[in-house]
Amino acid sequence: MDRPLAEGIRSRLLAWFDAGHRDMPWRRTKDPYRILLAEYLLQRTRVASGTPYYERFVERFPDLASLAAASEEDVLRAWEGLGYYRRARYVHAAAKAIVREHGGRIPSDAATLATLPGIGPYTAGAVASIAFGEAVPAVDGNVTRVVSRLFRVEADVTTAAGRASIQELAAGLVPTARPGAFNQALMELGANVCTPRRPACPACPLAGLCMAHGAGVQSALPRTPPSRRPTAVPVSFAYIRSRGKVLLVRRPESQILGGLWSLPGGEVPSDRRARASLRDLVAAQTCLRVDVAEDVGRVAHVFSHRRWTGRVYRCVPRGTGRLPSTARWVAAEEVLHLPVVPDHRKLLAELGFRRPLESFDAPRRRRA
Ligand code: ADE
Repeated sequence: MDRPLAEGIRSRLLAWFDAGHRDMPWRRTKDPYRILLAEYLLQRTRVASGTPYYERFVERFPDLASLAAASEEDVLRAWEGLGYYRRARYVHAAAKAIVREHGGRIPSDAATLATLPGIGPYTAGAVASIAFGEAVPAVDGNVTRVVSRLFRVEADVTTAAGRASIQELAAGLVPTARPGAFNQALMELGANVCTPRRPACPACPLAGLCMAHGAGVQSALPRTPPSRRPTAVPVSFAYIRSRGKVLLVRRPESQILGGLWSLPGGEVPSDRRARASLRDLVAAQTCLRVDVAEDVGRVAHVFSHRRWTGRVYRCVPRGTGRLPSTARWVAAEEVLHLPVVPDHRKLLAELGFRRPLESFDAPRRRRA
């Protein structure tokens, strides 16, 4: 890369960042554990939505050792509501691997960090540069957009070749002094100025150096294939109550929302056969034969590429049986402590299975 151009970009961007970057809790610390945690948390979550979870999580697990020693259920519980639960299992597995294989010290270079569960080039680069000062890039969606515009990259950035050019251009920009601040400045520029639609070029410290801006094509970049709409997937769930308890099952790790507790049931082949499919799902998940009675509630939840729509049916067991270890009768108080799938807490409350369930969804407040 042209050296004076790279120098110009670095100095203008860092001056802009220093003049007014946003305060974020993980920027107030040098603790690599907190920085690592924040980067896992922010992989698919915006800063504003992720911040209360970050605060809660570090309060619950203040250091790597406490996270490594926690049960998976406690970790999922602290993550509940954030979505993409695989990240919670990954950060937990990473904490254990760091204790087991690195003597409890977080590796300080991107190459070793990338060997940990759930860490790709972006997270490895972010942690290595922010926590340890390694001059490596951290290319996320925001940085991809900024770099594709700065250098007018016309390749589709979702292809291997497109990603490689962005990665290489970003690597050529990262300074050896303050690489972490530089990477965060790029992220921040992407989040606040170089936005996907209608970028605020008049407010951009790099406008004079930006090739897309020079050609007036900034809004057309980065190039991506047309987006897929989430596919509607029919679901049905069983509400089975007995003696003040409700029957829940733990979803298999390999499926969407793996590890979370849910009413028995799940995705079904079609709405028309929802009841028959539900009976089969309940039998497979709980070893109970049930009669499917009336419809008592609705499910509507959107994931990134899937949209669940369906109903909850009251079901009546035809007998008793031994439950598998992944199914159990749960009292209302216990629902408060289990990680459950999105909307289920509210759904259970609506079905009359209540304690002060709602109060649990609000972030816990610290006592003064
Ligand atoms: N997104 C991911 N990591 C971030 C960071 N360190 N600062 C701001 N936004 C981010």
